[in-house]
Amino acid sequence: MSHGLTARIAHEEFARMIYSLAPMEGLTGSTFRAVHAECFGALDRYYTPFLAPPHVDSGFGKKALKELDPGRGAGLDVVPQLLTKNADEFVWAAQVLAEMGFSEVNLNLGCPSGTVVAKGRGSGFLRDLDGLEAFLQDVCERSPLPVSVKTRLGIADDAEYERVLELYRRCPLAELIVHPRVQKDRYQGAPRWEPYGETLATAPFPAAYNGDVFSVDDRDALLAAYPATRHVMLGRGLLANPALARMMAGGPSVAPAELRAFHDKLFAAYVDEIGGNAVFRLKEWWFYAKFAFANPQAVHRLVRKVRKLDEYEAAVARVFANEPFAEVARFSA
Ligand SMILES: Cc1cc2nc3c(=O)[nH]c(=O)nc-3n(C[C@H](O)[C@H](O)[C@H](O)COP(=O)(O)O)c2cc1C
Repeated sequence: MSHGLTARIAHEEFARMIYSLAPMEGLTGSTFRAVHAECFGALDRYYTPFLAPPHVDSGFGKKALKELDPGRGAGLDVVPQLLTKNADEFVWAAQVLAEMGFSEVNLNLGCPSGTVVAKGRGSGFLRDLDGLEAFLQDVCERSPLPVSVKTRLGIADDAEYERVLELYRRCPLAELIVHPRVQKDRYQGAPRWEPYGETLATAPFPAAYNGDVFSVDDRDALLAAYPATRHVMLGRGLLANPALARMMAGGPSVAPAELRAFHDKLFAAYVDEIGGNAVFRLKEWWFYAKFAFANPQAVHRLVRKVRKLDEYEAAVARVFANEPFAEVARFSA
């Protein structure tokens, strides 16, 4: 029996796994979530790309409201993610979100972007562990919604995670999603599984895994190493292979006509929303979607220079007419 099959059988004996879609700014917003769910079936959970909380006593801005509009995510389990180090604003936002009907709020402690980190937010908050602990104790106590966290291991060195994890263990978190890289890694190098395993084994709350799960085999290897895994968050792997979660449930890979239909719906939805700028949105998507084709670089060359809607549509028609499909779509860094 193969390793993968053993892992699959073992994990089916336990409670159902949760597969969620990673928050990805500019990519996995409400439009993408709705169209993807319609074409490939809903994932168990979705996280919004990070939102800045509104000032206390004011409301979310227009862009955030589009992200949070329950009509756009009808029937989907959506967890809003906040990026902040201001406890009052976090608690205020959680109150607003509770009134909107959300049942959990997630804190971003992973964003590696220089400007975010310089302000002590995202993974930059991992530089000030005393401040972070005071923040988390405070918001967990005052937030009307359970608070989950998406974290990196630290700033520069995996060894930082020992103290980071100790800190989290003292806080009543709803869940901890571990992306086991440090800020300095950005998205380079292999994610480290041991710190995730340590979290899973020792945290008094559920732990989830995120990072480089790009195929069913990757998932099987993770489950073989850590059979207690209950929640896997999929990011770039699902953008490159929109059928990835379906395949993990034993379903078929994406067919060319299916990818075309998905693309066309996504494109139409963005054109409706932002007109000609849909081209730029879709070009970001193609950065990942090109891996559905046998020659991703050829696809990249066909779409990279187009700017106008009609040029874009012609380039996409050429891609689907001329470029052979990959056997299985798989993201590659
Ligand atoms: C373009 C881009 C945007 C992202 N935006 C967010 C975000 O808004 N919030 C967040 O917590 N993580 C964000 N991430 C990180 C992803 O959620 C995820 O942790 C990362 O892609 C690793 O998972 P993967 O290997 O499955 O893609 C972003 C990543 C990328 C590449």
